[in-house]
Amino acid sequence: MDSNLLQAQAGLWNLTLGYLKSMSLKCALDLGIPNIIDNNGQPMTLSQLHSVLSLHPSKKSPLRRVMRLLTYFGFFIEKSSAGVGEEVYDLTTQSRLVTQKDKSTNMLALIRCLLDNTWVKPSQYIGDWFVQDEKEVPAVLAHGCTFWELASQEPKVNKMFNDAMVSGSCLLNDVIVKHGDDIFKGIKSLVDVGGGKGAMAELIAKSFSHVRCTVLDLPNVVGDCPNNGIVKFVSGDMFTYVPPADIVLLKWVLHDWNNEDCIRILRRCKEAIPSREAGGKVIVCEAVVGSTSAMISEEPQLLLDMLMLTLTEGGERDENQWKSMFIEAGFSSYKIINTTGFMSIIELYP
Ligand SMILES: C[S@@+](CC[C@H](N)C(=O)[O-])C[C@H]1O[C@@H](n2cnc3c(N)ncnc32)[C@H](O)[C@@H]1O
Repeated sequence: MDSNLLQAQAGLWNLTLGYLKSMSLKCALDLGIPNIIDNNGQPMTLSQLHSVLSLHPSKKSPLRRVMRLLTYFGFFIEKSSAGVGEEVYDLTTQSRLVTQKDKSTNMLALIRCLLDNTWVKPSQYIGDWFVQDEKEVPAVLAHGCTFWELASQEPKVNKMFNDAMVSGSCLLNDVIVKHGDDIFKGIKSLVDVGGGKGAMAELIAKSFSHVRCTVLDLPNVVGDCPNNGIVKFVSGDMFTYVPPADIVLLKWVLHDWNNEDCIRILRRCKEAIPSREAGGKVIVCEAVVGSTSAMISEEPQLLLDMLMLTLTEGGERDENQWKSMFIEAGFSSYKIINTTGFMSIIELYP
């Protein structure tokens, strides 16, 4: 048999059934398996897991199959079972990202949100959406309204999304703090536009006490945020007004919008900052598809791009796409700061 053909067939199987990786992960999180192993303080046998989960005896073998798949993809590790007579599972670096006690480094809320049907369902409408003339994104076909409308109408969706944004920022937040001495040198104020519940702004305020931090976001996001003396919350619409500050931060915001909307947002941001000589700049934190800073893998960028296609009119952009947008919005130059993850920090100068 032609080995190329066999290779191709295996690739096609992977592409076709890849969604079962996601759903197996969802199953493990629904059952709380990573936390059960974490709380146990040591690796667990299949029997122990089965017993702690109080599952029906007939579910022991299916549980082994879920654990086998997730072990294959590096979410769990199977340890030597000498003397035990059955599989013993432990956490890996990957699964520890959802068990961290420290909320600022725990990705569980983000992963649960992305695996929830609200976020998954629109992906089933991509083909239908392509053959329609309407501009609406697949999420509108799936839910009957835009994602932002859904979040403002459904408290459960709103909460899930806002919590997800806090937990999704964890590793990038550390990178921003690491580069902060350069970024925030001589700066007195910052406004985090579309800053959600203020996790990033709070971290900056605490790490760089000379920077006064404000968060601008929609009323359904910041309406119930208490003024805690660390960050000031402003309810508003970034398309109309951005409060003045030395630095405007746009983290994970522009990828939600099409080019025209991004240019409108960037223009509002540019109006809010002083001249370059006076230290004014806009910081954009986004993926730069194919950039050399994507040391880990381009795959999450491409997948995130498809997620954006299903939910929004935006997407993940490469450097040329970013560059023409920055020029169109009136910025004179930009600098990409390499990070170690799949997101980059881009400084824009007026
Ligand atoms: C993908 S989230 C990013 C949140 C946060 N910057 C982070 O990185 O965790 C996009 C944010 O933009 C906010 N947003 C959407 N439309 C907005 C508008 N017109 N004015 C202000 N914020 C808006 C959303 O409520 C949401 O918090």
